[in-house]
Amino acid sequence: MSHPERVKVMPEIAAHALVNRAQYDDMAARAAADPDAFWAAEKDRIDWITSPTKIKNTSFTGDVSIKWFEDGVLNASVNCLDRHLATRGDQVAIIWEGDDPNESRHVTYRELHADVCRMANVLVALGAKKGDRITIYMPMIVEAAVALLACARIGAIHSVVFGGFSPDSLANRIQDCNSNILITADEGRRGGRKVPLKTNVDAALKSCPMLKSVLVVKATGTSIAMTAGRDVWYHEAAAAVPAECPPEPMKAEDPLFILYTSGSTGKPKGVLHTTGGYMVWASFTHQYVFDYHEGEIFWCTADVGWVTGHTYIVYGPLANGATTLMFEGVPNYPDTSRVWQVVDKHNVNIFYTAPTAIRALMRDGDAPVKRTSRASLRILGSVGEPINPEAWYWYSHVVGDDRCPVVDTWWQTETGGTLITGLPGAIDQKPGSAGLPLPGVKPLIVDAEGRELHGATEGNLCLADSWPGQMRTVYGDHDRFIQTYFSTFPGYYFSGDGARRDADGYYWITGRVDDVINVSGHRMGTAEVESALVAHPKVAEAAVVGFPHEVKGQGIYAYVTLISGEDPTDDLRRELIIWVRKEIGPIAAPDEIHWAPGLPKTRSGKIMRRILRKIAANETESLGDISTLADPSVVEDLVANRAA
Ligand code: PRX
Repeated sequence: MSHPERVKVMPEIAAHALVNRAQYDDMAARAAADPDAFWAAEKDRIDWITSPTKIKNTSFTGDVSIKWFEDGVLNASVNCLDRHLATRGDQVAIIWEGDDPNESRHVTYRELHADVCRMANVLVALGAKKGDRITIYMPMIVEAAVALLACARIGAIHSVVFGGFSPDSLANRIQDCNSNILITADEGRRGGRKVPLKTNVDAALKSCPMLKSVLVVKATGTSIAMTAGRDVWYHEAAAAVPAECPPEPMKAEDPLFILYTSGSTGKPKGVLHTTGGYMVWASFTHQYVFDYHEGEIFWCTADVGWVTGHTYIVYGPLANGATTLMFEGVPNYPDTSRVWQVVDKHNVNIFYTAPTAIRALMRDGDAPVKRTSRASLRILGSVGEPINPEAWYWYSHVVGDDRCPVVDTWWQTETGGTLITGLPGAIDQKPGSAGLPLPGVKPLIVDAEGRELHGATEGNLCLADSWPGQMRTVYGDHDRFIQTYFSTFPGYYFSGDGARRDADGYYWITGRVDDVINVSGHRMGTAEVESALVAHPKVAEAAVVGFPHEVKGQGIYAYVTLISGEDPTDDLRRELIIWVRKEIGPIAAPDEIHWAPGLPKTRSGKIMRRILRKIAANETESLGDISTLADPSVVEDLVANRAA
């Protein structure tokens, strides 16, 4: 189907938008000309205990130091809760929609404030102090948001681990940040199935002696083992503490949270975000990117275990006094209309999801969508991976009935919030393009040597200067921070993404240029999957690459060399897939396993991934130069045995 390449700003949206094109141009010009003045004004969207006088103090060279609002003092939970009590204490802060369509909850700002204070007091009673790392391993229930905010209230640093990760992945993250307290639930629910969170915790903690206390929220009420002296039921502890807890005054650069994310090498790294800049960025981007108006109902479908959930379920919407919707379930349960039924049930105005979900829903056709009204919808958002124009138009036309702008949002765990997007009231959309930089964001494209390319061009996507929501360091490993982001192209923050810029200045993200793959909008390091595979006793060697996948965006394609004497059977294939699911989590399970008697290596022993990617993508006619390989016949063999 052919579609227009440019979709103009809708006049009825522009007329009421917070930012129209002239205002966007003006903001961008002011932010570029005088960042200090621009952000000094924007910082006032946040309540400060001590208002900062120093605004920006950042350097991308040498030791790399990023400080924003450094002499300011604030508390993130106060900004999400206390400051709203006088004006909107009885407004709903969180609408919770259960996995079961008959279950939902409405929690007002006043109730949320009391819940957060109670959990904060329980944490203090367990010995939590400012600066402690508290791990959160929760299903999508209200208490997950309460847990984040309770940590923020007492100045503890939360580290949320996605509930779909395995005990091993959880243990690694607990050990890396030396966490002493963990908040979890008995079980989670997803699509009618149960997720055994507490059982996973028990398994993980066998290798985590530093972890002293486990706070357990009763979610499903299933019977679970409780370890005396370590495990505490939240509802029992909460009954014994007051519903008021004084907020800890935090310096702007005191850490707010750690969130582990995959890179090209090694174990996932702990991305560290601090309090002041992150809160300003979360509030600023939530308001402008979604053209959020007072009273609107905002639904971000991410899990709180990912950065999207942190910024656009919890901190951004709550800082702005919005009503945020938390959904425990999955889009196709009990049926494929579920998402739109939830939209109608709760009158959702702004809906934010990932292209993979759109493509999956699109496969079920228009009928499940058209059975619902969706009249409340005003703005649609996309995040996590490039959205293909076909999915964009379906989202716009079938879901949005051609009256809701679709805003793509490019960002990363490291960036804290959106950097490149098309503000709905200001910027014409080009489906497939992420859009233009937000005010104060300075993207640039560099070639392989780090030279800036001008005009319409393609290359590596970098940022020339800092923005308030930028990560500050890799927790416990500042050298890794410098190495990962600032050494490839000195002086710039390197995103790891490739991008094209067109003649109108729009950015088109072409995908990762490193060994990170993006599976259903989730980041996975190929090295992580490889190390899980080689941990299997029958595997001698493994190489993992991404390949184009119709629904997931990218799938995981694993080349596996077995130890001699082992037979490549279908049973073993299944066993390896289950093995990786257990080692890392279901999101890391390979889609394809290709038995490889040998892997293409250079004479120095480096695996030529470029060739493996081509074979995985079935582009075997364009393998390029293979003459530098130690044994070119390996390639012929792989091509001949390509998985069907
Ligand atoms: O490759 C880009 C892709 O997702 C990566 C960041 O993943 P993560 O840190 O898990 O954060 C996901 C949610 C922000 C990026 O390096 N990505 C994210 N959003 C887009 C995108 N690629 C294209 N278009 C997007 N809108």
